[in-house]
Formats: sequence, C-alpha cells, structure tokens
Amino acid sequence: MSVRMAPPLPLIFLIMIHRVSSADWAVSYSHSHICALKNSSVTMSCTYTYPTERQIMRVFWIKTVVGVEYPDLSEDPEYRQRLQYLGDKQQNCTIRLSHVTQKDEQMYYFRFTTDVTDGKWIGQPGVTLTVTDLQVESPERVTEGDSVRLTCKSSCTLTDRATFIWYRNSQPLTERRDTNNQLLLQSVRREDAGRYSCALHGHTYISPAVHLNVTYPPRNVSVSITGSAEIVEGDSVTLICSSDSNPPALNFSWFKENQSSAVGSGQSFSALQSGRFYCEAQNEHGSQRSDAVTVTVKGRLLILYVSFGVVCGAAAIITMLLIW
Ligand SMILES: *[C@@H]1O[C@H](CO)[C@@H](O)[C@H](O)[C@H]1NC(C)=O
Ligand SMILES: *[C@@H]1O[C@H](CO)[C@@H](O)[C@H](O)[C@H]1NC(C)=O
Ligand SMILES: *[C@@H]1O[C@H](CO)[C@@H](O)[C@H](O)[C@H]1NC(C)=O
Repeated sequence: MSVRMAPPLPLIFLIMIHRVSSADWAVSYSHSHICALKNSSVTMSCTYTYPTERQIMRVFWIKTVVGVEYPDLSEDPEYRQRLQYLGDKQQNCTIRLSHVTQKDEQMYYFRFTTDVTDGKWIGQPGVTLTVTDLQVESPERVTEGDSVRLTCKSSCTLTDRATFIWYRNSQPLTERRDTNNQLLLQSVRREDAGRYSCALHGHTYISPAVHLNVTYPPRNVSVSITGSAEIVEGDSVTLICSSDSNPPALNFSWFKENQSSAVGSGQSFSALQSGRFYCEAQNEHGSQRSDAVTVTVKGRLLILYVSFGVVCGAAAIITMLLIW
C-alpha cells in the first residue's frame, strides 16, 4: 500500500527544482511609488536575485511594458543623458534619473537576462514615478493684526524627507516657519505683504509666487496746502488730505477746530475763512485724523485803510514841509 501511494521519484525532483527556481528569480524595489519634485534627481533602489548557476548577460531598465520588445531606457534619447545605472551585475540594480519632468510619470522596471534563453526576468510590479511641482496656498487678502498660514502644496507626498524654504519677494525667510510645509504669520504687519514662494532645501525648483495683500486702516494722515496759507478775503485756499491706507481711503471729512460738525467732505477742501482745519481719512478698516493747519484770511477793507493811512501821512508830511 505504501509503495502505491508514493509518487514516482522523478516527479518529486521536478517539483523541488521548480520551487527553488521561482524563489531564486526576484527583483525588489525599496519604494514601489516615488513622488519626486520637478527637476530633481530620483534614485530607484533595487536588488535582484537569480539562480547561482546562471550568469548575468544584460542588466537594464525599461518603462511601461508595451508589446514584447523591451527597449533599454539608456538607449532612449529622452533618457540617455539623464539616466545613470548605479548597480552592478551581481545583485544591485539601483538607478538614478535626473531632471525629472511630468513626462517621466511612468512605471519603471528592472530587466535582466542570463546565459540561457529562457533565463530572463522583469521585476514586476515596477516602480511608479509621480512628479510634482509646488504651489503656495494663501488667502489673497489679510487684515493687519490677523494670523495667516501659508501652505506649500505638492500633488503627492514627497518620498524624500524634505525641508521647506520660504521666500518673500525672492528673499529667503529665516523666521516663523510653522510645521513642515506651512508658514505661520502671526499678527500680520504691513511689511508682510509681498510675493511668497516656496522651495525644498537642496533643490533648484521654486514654486510660482503668490501675492499676499495686507489691508490696514489709514495712517500718516496729513493736510497739504496749495499756495499760501495767508490769503486775502474773497480768495480761497485749497487744502488736500492724504493718507497711507490699503485699500486707499475714499472717505474724507473736514473739520474746523472748536466746531463739532464737519465743514466739508472729499479729498480736497476750499477754506474761505481763517481758522485751524484738519481732515479725517477713512477706509473699511478704520479712520484717522490729521494735525490741524492754520489758514489766515486778511480783510480787504483793512488793507485799504492801511494804504489810505500811509498816503495821508505822506501827504501831511509833504504839506508841512512846504508850509515850513
Ligand atoms: C546599490 O548601489 C547603490 C549605489 O552604489 C548604493 O547606494 C546602495 O546602497 C546599493 N544597495 C545595496 C542593497 O547594496
Ligand atoms: C534644474 O536643475 C538644474 C541644476 O540641477 C538647474 O541648473 C536648472 O536651472 C533647473 N531648472 C529649472 C527649470 O529649475
Ligand atoms: C489689496 O486689496 C485691496 C482691497 O481689495 C485692493 O483695493 C488693493 O488694490 C489690493 N492691493 C494690491 C497691492 O493688490
């Protein structure tokens, strides 16, 4: 009975051969998905095994398998200049691809051939490469005093641990980096307005810049006078109110000191009377008043009297001299 149950010896031998050989042929990649930054260099780490009695003939990489031909990437004009085989002909099949672009988003496989016709292998599944750029995410507008968080976004999670760098108007920012890919601006100041971009430490690629607009209430409100502040009755003097504000102040009120209600509106004002005048500039974030300026109006009659007096005096002196 036991004799009948035992399989023929050659069959056992074949099964053993099969087991050993399929375990011996293998390619393993340390990352099956790689997310890389545009224009950076990507290293695809790879090792391979094969039966010890086989001898390696060719080692090369291919991309997305089409048909039965497996063109060697190092002969592809799109890759030739950028591809560097760092591996060997024993067990290391690591490769490096530099200056990656969106066009390189493919599956990559390591292939090797040996001294026997059917002793060929493709390491499947291969390595999926995704290439990302960086984008700054930021609110378009923020009001002075608020907190704002800018995020440097990539379309996939970068495989290499990366340190983010921030720039404002192309100048690197050293302070206030928040978590990994965020920049926290606490209590925003006017000086924080500008064009923000981000990058990765040690990489050449820089994101497109995004403008951050910081709005604030009027500051440095002042009155300027066109011409002279001393005028003759009947003439007028034009006062102009200016301020530093974002958005620009559009509401202006004019006041005369010791008078509670406004005497005018608009960016310019015609003063007809003597007095001390000031303006108040306002935008949606607040208002501020200027210092006062003095306007002096001289009466015409007074001038006439003075002139008359001088003439009369002169005439009197001349008359007296003649009589004498
Ligand atoms: C394979 O070669 C690369 C480049 O020389 C090296 O960095 C890597 O450590 C090697 N990998 C193994 C598993 O030996
Ligand atoms: C790509 O990187 C190289 C250096 O590695 C640099 O000279 C080149 O300016 C970069 N190109 C872009 C578009 O960033
Ligand atoms: C900032 O935003 C304000 C309000 O929308 C706008 O009036 C102003 O022109 C903007 N400034 C800049 C520099 O974009």
